[in-house]
Amino acid sequence: ITRLYFFVGFLSLFLSVHSQHERFVYTKFRRSEGIGADADGSSLSLNAVVEIHGTGLLQLTKETSRLIGHAFYRTPLQFKDTVDGAVHSFSTTFAFAIVPDYPQLGGHGFAFVIAPSIELAGALPSQYLGLLNASNVGNFTNHIFAVEFDTVQDFEFGDINDNHIGIDINNLVSNASVSAAYYSDDGKMNELNLKSGQNIQAWVDYDGFGKVLNVTVSPCSSKPPRPVLSFPLDLSPILHDQMFVGFSASTGLLASSHYLLGWSFAMNGVAPSLNLTDVPSFPSQHKKKNTTFIIIAAVGAVLLLIAAIAAASFLFYRFKNADVIEPWELECGPHRLSYKELKHATKGFRDRELLGFGGFGKVYKGTLPGSGSEVAVKRISNESRQGIREFVAEIASIGRLRHRNLVQLQGWCRRRADLLLVYDYMPNGSLDKFLFSDESGPPRPLLSWAQRFRILRGVASALLYLHEEWEHVVIHRDVKASNVLLDGEFNGRLGDFGLAKIYEHGADPSTTRVAGTLGYLAPELTRTGKATTGSDVFSFGALALGVVCGRRPVESKAAPEEMILVDWVWEQWNAGRWAEVVDPSLGGDYEREEVEVIVKVGLMCSHLEPAVRPTMRDVVRYLDGGDAAEVPDVPSPPADYEG
Ligand SMILES: *[C@@H]1O[C@H](CO)[C@@H](O)[C@H](O)[C@H]1NC(C)=O
Ligand SMILES: *[C@@H]1O[C@H](CO)[C@@H](O)[C@H](O)[C@H]1NC(C)=O
Ligand SMILES: *[C@@H]1O[C@H](CO)[C@@H](O)[C@H](O)[C@H]1NC(C)=O
Ligand SMILES: *[C@@H]1O[C@H](CO)[C@@H](O)[C@H](O)[C@H]1NC(C)=O
Ligand SMILES: *[C@@H]1O[C@H](CO)[C@@H](O)[C@H](O)[C@H]1NC(C)=O
Repeated sequence: ITRLYFFVGFLSLFLSVHSQHERFVYTKFRRSEGIGADADGSSLSLNAVVEIHGTGLLQLTKETSRLIGHAFYRTPLQFKDTVDGAVHSFSTTFAFAIVPDYPQLGGHGFAFVIAPSIELAGALPSQYLGLLNASNVGNFTNHIFAVEFDTVQDFEFGDINDNHIGIDINNLVSNASVSAAYYSDDGKMNELNLKSGQNIQAWVDYDGFGKVLNVTVSPCSSKPPRPVLSFPLDLSPILHDQMFVGFSASTGLLASSHYLLGWSFAMNGVAPSLNLTDVPSFPSQHKKKNTTFIIIAAVGAVLLLIAAIAAASFLFYRFKNADVIEPWELECGPHRLSYKELKHATKGFRDRELLGFGGFGKVYKGTLPGSGSEVAVKRISNESRQGIREFVAEIASIGRLRHRNLVQLQGWCRRRADLLLVYDYMPNGSLDKFLFSDESGPPRPLLSWAQRFRILRGVASALLYLHEEWEHVVIHRDVKASNVLLDGEFNGRLGDFGLAKIYEHGADPSTTRVAGTLGYLAPELTRTGKATTGSDVFSFGALALGVVCGRRPVESKAAPEEMILVDWVWEQWNAGRWAEVVDPSLGGDYEREEVEVIVKVGLMCSHLEPAVRPTMRDVVRYLDGGDAAEVPDVPSPPADYEG
């Protein structure tokens, strides 16, 4: 068998005619094609991650986190006419297979690339697909053209789903994208799962005269009658005269093996056809039936049946008991947390370890075995698979947030319908306990004015980070006192960030979520339903006033004129009775100037008109300045809830 593979390995065929009619075909990739930078006969340039198997399979990435695989045709191709500079027509076809680590979850995808160099220096893995990075994404000096086959839905790049084909120009935000599919001869559109592990063939055809780019995919080697994506595109500003062609694949916290099984290319011509039955066989692919196999299969059927039953019970057992997704590695280093560890850490999710009920589940205190560090483990039950996928994409971003006033997400784990999120433990609990009293409850502990001021400054700088300082805009959407947690030194740390967006769908509509946080919800939100940085600023205003007054934004038990905190504060403020608004439990022990700053900022942030509200950058500046004269006067009455 080795000899056979050895023999077919040489079937690979390579033709170079004229640069205007450059053509090449790989139906098997030979090891010698990728070895060493200057090895004789090596026509491909591969980076260290890429492996060529003896069977002729080219593996761009393995199932390892955060890899980038690059495979480029070593010789640059003349893409533009040497006389008039027009971009040539070209056509390419390739066969690939994507085998994810976890069947439903891809990680991340690959792309056919035309690039000015084979290095793609500084490119990042994960959602950047090994093409670009956070600082050069979208820059027209990149001269990168790619057709992406993406198996993860990245919200930051506006991906349509986790199984799409997109045309990318200097950016990972696709200029055009479609859900992976193909047309059959009867004109019917059929879905195609890119990460099924099956062989898939793709065609990319560019018409230099008509300036149209077509992308076609199919689960077999006959080309469907219509492309799934046809995009009018003038490549001339994007391409240089000479460019390199090849492939880039990446994995993120979740990983897939990306295989290339064959590739052909033709400039000013039709790419030589590939035949999926000729391409190398691939580990998880089903063998084609033939008569010999049928006989063997008949003999082996009984054995197979027994094996199948054993395997099924084993899988069932694993499905029932194993973590569905392994915990992943965060940037600070691999942080493996298994369900078993978390169960142990929380003493089996014992009620005595319950810290409280978070937005979407119970929160337990835990001590991680090994390090002994204290954590808060939030357990969320969610039945919907769609929810899980969105969650994974979202967590991949949120796990990378780092700010001293954010509650750090340490890791996560999934088991069956349970999601477990592990956060830093905040020994002093949430801010609301210190601000709002319940008549029936025990007397609330006190925070000094200095502590309150510092907490607000911390929360403001965390929001500034989310809105402006991180690589993407993150809208918290649920800023409120119970989401501000206090660490050992009573620093305010914003928790539960970003998750509100995902879990709104799953939340029980009969909960009092909307009513309960009414005072924090920007009025335009109920109209437009669209969360913006401005709506976070509004919530911050409600929080700030709550901290000064020691009262909830909406106090249903208060007298009617005092029910809406912001209206009441505005009235007192206008009448010059500003001292009335300060929490009486402070006993007059506070900095008047600072109170003035907070009240003015709070009123401004609470303004009905989003445009009048300051940005978080302004808020941080006012709080750092500590000078009330610096804060502009609030122009008109703030929000009006009765309207
Ligand atoms: C991004 O890539 C460019 C090259 O394309 C490189 O010069 C730059 O240093 C990279 N930036 C980061 C932050 O890695
Ligand atoms: C794009 O990249 C060029 C060169 O790397 C740089 O000078 C320019 O400032 C970048 N433009 C943007 C908008 O980032
Ligand atoms: C691709 O999208 C970018 C950003 O949306 C846009 O500036 C550019 O003109 C688009 N290019 C084409 C060819 O449509
Ligand atoms: C692209 O697709 C369109 C629509 O099916 C077709 O008319 C056109 O000939 C195709 N062009 C190329 C270069 O394949
Ligand atoms: C692929 O090859 C098989 C046998 O090698 C042949 O029967 C089949 O017709 C070929 N298909 C195409 C589309 O060329």
